Amino acid sequence: MTQLPQRIGIIGSGAVGQALGVGFAKSGYQVKIGSREPTKLKDWTKQVGPNGLVGSNTEAANFGDLLVICTKWSGTENAITIAGKEHFANKVVLDVTNPLVVDSPTLPPKPGFGYPNSAGKTIQSWLPKSLVVKAFNSVPANYMCNPTLQEGQPDLFIAGNDDTAKKTITALAEQWGWKSIHDMGDITQSYLIEDLAMLWIRWGFLNNHWTHAFKLLKK
Ligand SMILES: NC(=O)c1ccc[n+]([C@@H]2O[C@H](COP(=O)([O-])OP(=O)(O)OC[C@H]3O[C@@H](n4cnc5c(N)ncnc54)[C@H](OP(=O)(O)O)[C@@H]3O)[C@@H](O)[C@H]2O)c1
Repeated sequence: MTQLPQRIGIIGSGAVGQALGVGFAKSGYQVKIGSREPTKLKDWTKQVGPNGLVGSNTEAANFGDLLVICTKWSGTENAITIAGKEHFANKVVLDVTNPLVVDSPTLPPKPGFGYPNSAGKTIQSWLPKSLVVKAFNSVPANYMCNPTLQEGQPDLFIAGNDDTAKKTITALAEQWGWKSIHDMGDITQSYLIEDLAMLWIRWGFLNNHWTHAFKLLKK
């Protein structure tokens, strides 16, 4: 039987952390978002209701039996260090990051890694005792827990070394209504899903359109 968490700790308090936090809380999980500046999450606390808590990164990492990493890539290693690597050990860690290098707000960001490296593989190397699963990084934050666009439902691509951990993330996604979830293989395959996010970003810049997502069509 798939192991579902009771308490979820989120490292990263931006659009992704806040959206996933609301989604998990609505699904009945206890959630704690960590931030270096927890007071900035006052509005989120009002929105999320009693299942949502705020604390330091250490408190969030200690709180969750499943952890989410959704930090700006350049701050990710620091956020993990602040949280305390020991709190990640033996837990499923959902990695939603994209390793973006931003030179200018008016230009598309560049990928911070090239094949065969990726953020997912790097986070797994920083947290060797964790079960890291890459997922949701190719979807805009506001559709992660509500995968319904005007033209249909996108697909979700995931990667990770541990099948049980991937089943847990799949089950959480299914609770939000995701139907087509593709397991792309071990964590080294994260580069594919991170490149998909680069395609998403490039298309968004070219078309000035930010509410799109990918669907894999079959005969
Ligand atoms: N936005 C989207 O639609 C979307 C979709 C898919 C994937 N992603 C990826 O998901 C991740 C989160 O994106 P986002 O848009 O929610 O927010 P973001 O602005 O990329 O990241 C915000 C978070 O990063 C943390 N952070 C930044 N610099 C840090 C540092 N030096 N040390 C520690 N923590 C630091 C902040 O922590 P504090 O709270 O402590 O300030 C904040 O919680 C990114 O990797 C992004 O590429 C985003």
